[in-house]
Amino acid sequence: MRHFDYQNGEMFAEGVPLARIAEEVGTPVYVYSTATFTRHYRVFADSFNDTDALIAYSVKANSNIAVLATLAAQGAGADVVSGGELKRALIAGIPAKKIVFSGVGKTRTEMREALTAGIRVFNVESLEELHVLNDTALEMGQTAPIAFRVNPDVTAGGHAKISTGKKENKFGIAWSQAELAYEEAARLPAIEIIGVDVHIGSQISDLAPFEKAIQKVGDLIKRLRAAGHTIKSFDIGGGLGIPYGNNTVVPPPPSEYAALVKRLTADLDVEMIFEPGRMIAGNSGILLSEVLYVKRGEDRDFLIIDAAMNDLLRPALYDAYHDMEPVKQGDLDKMETYDVVGPICESGDTFTKGREMPKLESGDLVVLHSAGAYGASQSSQYNTRPLVPEVLVNGAEYAVIRARPSIEDILKTESLPNWLSKHQNVTDI
Ligand code: LLP
Repeated sequence: MRHFDYQNGEMFAEGVPLARIAEEVGTPVYVYSTATFTRHYRVFADSFNDTDALIAYSVKANSNIAVLATLAAQGAGADVVSGGELKRALIAGIPAKKIVFSGVGKTRTEMREALTAGIRVFNVESLEELHVLNDTALEMGQTAPIAFRVNPDVTAGGHAKISTGKKENKFGIAWSQAELAYEEAARLPAIEIIGVDVHIGSQISDLAPFEKAIQKVGDLIKRLRAAGHTIKSFDIGGGLGIPYGNNTVVPPPPSEYAALVKRLTADLDVEMIFEPGRMIAGNSGILLSEVLYVKRGEDRDFLIIDAAMNDLLRPALYDAYHDMEPVKQGDLDKMETYDVVGPICESGDTFTKGREMPKLESGDLVVLHSAGAYGASQSSQYNTRPLVPEVLVNGAEYAVIRARPSIEDILKTESLPNWLSKHQNVTDI
């Protein structure tokens, strides 16, 4: 069931007309559907309800606290990669014991915060990090539970920039060094080995790379146990792709992914950890924008909308495809072809080229679909455009869950040095 769909020719998010949100909150604005977040989480979690499993939602995909709280209410844990994300997860009510800490560059401060909170596991990515974690835990009189993120050297992921499981990527312990790393960890007094972790990439659209990685890591788990290590958990990361609507890539449903994981891990006797991000958040949100101008060029027409690459970076960064539809269902007999662009002063500020859509005019509203993951969480204030707000719909009601900052809000964090002005604060000028 689509929760962003037309009712009497007008697009709604669940029970709320998008035109109403545009009117009351302004555009551009992200709009999320509670029902979709919940359904995606349930589809994933329910396909593992006969398995000892922790679903640690990958916070980076969409880190809004209200989104995290929505998932926490379903029982979700969290995969975090910074002290900031850790704080968000805790504020949202996710128990520390359901939080895993990933990332290649954890700082001592972040380690201290995570140890204080009492998280479930640190996914450690290098021997240097391991030693810093050991020192930090020792100083605090604590023991740090760890898994090594290993790099299985398999090809996966929808785009070179989001592939992580190849040996040329910066992620994980090199495959040939994995067993030595566990030996080293076993010697450290403030480290407790609890598992193995892997994450091979994102927007993965077939099961073969997962199969390869799980088999390799499964064999590693057996070797580690034979060497005397206690391996209780197997974290296989995130990465399951979603349909973006262009019909070229239709990833397998979570049920098929789950069947594969269960088949390959049946004899391992481990607790499974999953870190899905996009699968839960991607199709739970849209970016709502207004057409500013239709510019008739010499050989093409430009649809200039009020959203830009700072609001949704994916097309500029990964050539990502996002379906687009008008909020008022258009006349399918009057189609036009547009290059859809934002107001930012870069040619890369292009959402799509040569896209066919019903004829649009200045003031019309459009929707960019599948923008719930890596949309708002990757937004910036480039060109001094205020950070795009976020709205969460729940049935017939909605709430602003991230407000649009004013220009003053943006400027007040900046100040002039005393040699340039007697005013300390830019906004006093
Ligand atoms: N776990 C780890 C350690 C990760 O690095 C990631 C994503 C995930 C889990 C979640 O992966 P997912 O289930 O969402 O595929 N900005 C890019 C995607 C970057 C993914 C980074 N890591 C995009 O917009 O496509």
